[in-house]
Amino acid sequence: MLSDAVAALRCPVCQGVLQLRQGQQQTLACEAGHQFDAAKQGYFNLLTGKGTVFEADSADMVAARYRFLDAGHYSGLAQAVAAAAAGSLQRPGAVVLDAGTGTGHYLRAVLERSGASGIGVDISKFALRRAARLNPEAANLVWDIWRPLPMMDNTADVVTVVFAPRNPAEFARVLRPGGSLIVVTPRPGHLAEIAARAGMLSIEDGKEERLVDSMREYFDSGTSQNLDLPLTLSGPEVADLAYMGPAGHHVQREELAELAAVEGSVATTAKFRISEFAVS
Ligand SMILES: C[S@@+](CC[C@H](N)C(=O)[O-])C[C@H]1O[C@@H](n2cnc3c(N)ncnc32)[C@H](O)[C@@H]1O
Ligand SMILES: [Zn+2]
Repeated sequence: MLSDAVAALRCPVCQGVLQLRQGQQQTLACEAGHQFDAAKQGYFNLLTGKGTVFEADSADMVAARYRFLDAGHYSGLAQAVAAAAAGSLQRPGAVVLDAGTGTGHYLRAVLERSGASGIGVDISKFALRRAARLNPEAANLVWDIWRPLPMMDNTADVVTVVFAPRNPAEFARVLRPGGSLIVVTPRPGHLAEIAARAGMLSIEDGKEERLVDSMREYFDSGTSQNLDLPLTLSGPEVADLAYMGPAGHHVQREELAELAAVEGSVATTAKFRISEFAVS
């Protein structure tokens, strides 16, 4: 329920309790008078001031990701994340934070499977417009993961991070004791057949070790599993895939058009690692 999610939030300005006011539009407000109105699509922009210097995903990049995920190519991953999260979301009123929620597809799967309350955070308002439509029962917030999260200490049962930035200190602070952090990363060989054509970064060895190292101060590493999804993609789907990831910021329109024009289909394999960490 949205109320459980809102109870986990705190004012990003004064750290006070935030409450949801239902008027002509929904507003999150604290006792000190800081107020955040919902955008018409239903998300809240909690970033105040100058905003962030981070390069947020553009509307077109988000549209590409939405098309690709909505076609179900990665639904096997969404189901695996939902299954991994379900064990720690059994408490009535359980709350899951999806950090870098993007279009909200992974959070959707987690909420459907667990019935938990959701908080989706992303720096791109274009992504949040989609996420708010897909997960209207969640609190969808424009926020920068590198800043202190607008959540009270010990309020999340699970934090999920699917191909998004990680702030271990903040994830540890907002997780309850016994809570679980679930991180999805690509493995070497991820989409290898198309990465070369599409100017996508290839995944180096050693990423897994670096992930565990970066978490060590705050988390015990738990289990991890590999998931391989064989994909058969059309030209336009390959173009969407090239555009939706981090390389999308640099890819040229002509390159995308070339990829999209490829006839027939391209076979490749998405290779993921799903790592679970427990708060130490
Ligand atoms: C590769 S996408 C993954 C999105 C989604 N989890 C998925 O897998 O479809 C990375 C997401 O992280 C978001 N992001 C990048 N930097 C961020 C930051 N500093 N704070 C919050 N979100 C950020 C981007 O806007 C984008 O939606
Ligand atoms: Zn306040």
